[in-house]
Amino acid sequence: GKGEHRHFMLKEIFEQPQVVGDTLNTMLNPASRTITLMDLPFDLGSVNRVTIVACGTSYYAGLVAKYWIERLAKVAVEVDIASEFRYRQPVVAKGDLAIFISQSGETADTLAALRWCLDRGMNTIALVNVAESTIARTAHAALLTQAGPEIGVASTKAFTCQLTVLACVAIALGRANGRLPATEEARLSQALAEVPACISEILRADDGIRRVAEDIAQARDVLYLGRGTGYPIALEGALKLKEISYIHAEGYASGELKHGPIALIDDHVPVIVVCPSDELYDKTASNVQEVIARGARVVFLSDKEGQARLVNKPLAAFTLPSVDPFVAPILYAVPVQLLAYHVAVAKGTDVDQPRNLAKSVTVE
Ligand code: M6R
Repeated sequence: GKGEHRHFMLKEIFEQPQVVGDTLNTMLNPASRTITLMDLPFDLGSVNRVTIVACGTSYYAGLVAKYWIERLAKVAVEVDIASEFRYRQPVVAKGDLAIFISQSGETADTLAALRWCLDRGMNTIALVNVAESTIARTAHAALLTQAGPEIGVASTKAFTCQLTVLACVAIALGRANGRLPATEEARLSQALAEVPACISEILRADDGIRRVAEDIAQARDVLYLGRGTGYPIALEGALKLKEISYIHAEGYASGELKHGPIALIDDHVPVIVVCPSDELYDKTASNVQEVIARGARVVFLSDKEGQARLVNKPLAAFTLPSVDPFVAPILYAVPVQLLAYHVAVAKGTDVDQPRNLAKSVTVE
């Protein structure tokens, strides 16, 4: 049941400290600060290209993984939407690694893409939340998220658990091919180990998000901005909002603002900005100054340092824990989920069963 929570979605958002912790426990040794994936039937050290295929929120998890794997393991990563990948005649090589991400493990397009890759001799890994699902059983190996059953149509805890596994995959690849030093593995593992407590801290500040949601609920369009791993989180935030509140929302890479979307900005369009203090902070913050100067009502998601450094004051500031930028996307996923949830509640939509949507998309 929903327990003390009004909706499954809220319950599942609040389960994240627990289930991300459970997922980490399957891979992270906190004493040695090392990552161990299950035994795979192929050698991670010799992988020189990774293809990630998924749909919806699971696809956005794949986009975050691209930044992580390329940075830590120096291996080229391609990420594609399953319905595009399966029909566009992609160029793949026998022995390349393909990862299929799916909460349900039953998504028709993702399964078809997996079968296509198997036919071409690729090494395949399923990253799923349902161990006995078709995708899990079809791939050479399955990595499991420990999210537990996800009932809300809007994916929340499955996403942060997928990110958790993918962060570990990036570390494991980097260790296996010798590109990631052991000292870095230890530092990143430590940052991962602290994620569940950081998510709890964010959830305790839920009221701040609820207050700004009343305002966002009046909007017709909402823009989400981010850079680096914050960009897929902007995409995910926009998807969550449109899916359950029916407000039109778009996610953009902040650097693309000048190439079109800035034309939309006025005081009717709220702009949600994902902006942890990382090496790209200054660039995103300067985009934020530009939109504030054009009257935009900005909701600025950053840590204490990032909030203090912002010159023009936003409509609302939501402060997250200061963490290693590596784990920031896992944390910043949470306020965008909460925002979508509270906006939907303010609008009175059916949060757990949004119109026209099915939890598991088993037909294309
Ligand atoms: O079960 P899957 O992860 O394969 O599902 C993929 C998408 O259908 C799913 O993430 C969808 O986008 C969610 N409703 C997003 O909240």
